[in-house]
Amino acid sequence: MYPTRQKAEELLIEAGKCNPGPWEAHSRVTADCACKIARAVSGLDAEKAYVVGLLHDIGRKFGVKHLGHVYDGWRYMSELGYDEAARICLSHSFNEGKLENYIGKFDITEEETEELRLALAAMKFDEYDKLIQLCDSLAAAEGVVDMKERMEDIRRRYGQYPQSKWDKNMELKTYFEQKAGKDIYTVVGGISAE
Ligand SMILES: [Fe+2]
Repeated sequence: MYPTRQKAEELLIEAGKCNPGPWEAHSRVTADCACKIARAVSGLDAEKAYVVGLLHDIGRKFGVKHLGHVYDGWRYMSELGYDEAARICLSHSFNEGKLENYIGKFDITEEETEELRLALAAMKFDEYDKLIQLCDSLAAAEGVVDMKERMEDIRRRYGQYPQSKWDKNMELKTYFEQKAGKDIYTVVGGISAE
């Protein structure tokens, strides 16, 4: 289950009012990329891709948090019955499926961390999980960016970026490029932000 596009837009607007920030624009860029890539490959529903992309960071509604935004989004979407959006709130931050590779603060309780760890371990990533993992790394608030530059930027801000996570992002890019038969930047309409 996931909400309609209109309901998802409403949820994002409401969340943006609770905690204004560039994350709202980043969510829109992510959704747009996901929709375009889904249209370019076979077997993916572009509407679902858009909606789950739009909601992947919805946990930011509840304040400025690191791992907390993953937990809050996962819980929030689950409580509303949107299990397919909830799983994306969780999976988007862990392209290697490992909680310990999270870049940022572990700002939730040990019990909550354990809950996430178990949920993540039980998950087998599907096409939408992979798609939003990729789009998250293509989307800045200003628009589509060069993935390598975005990862460099995170490396600078957080002081590190695990090589294996970097490689996994490049692997996801290649995966969808092969499915689309095109360069990913062509699919999403080119790099739009520096
Ligand atoms: Fe994101």
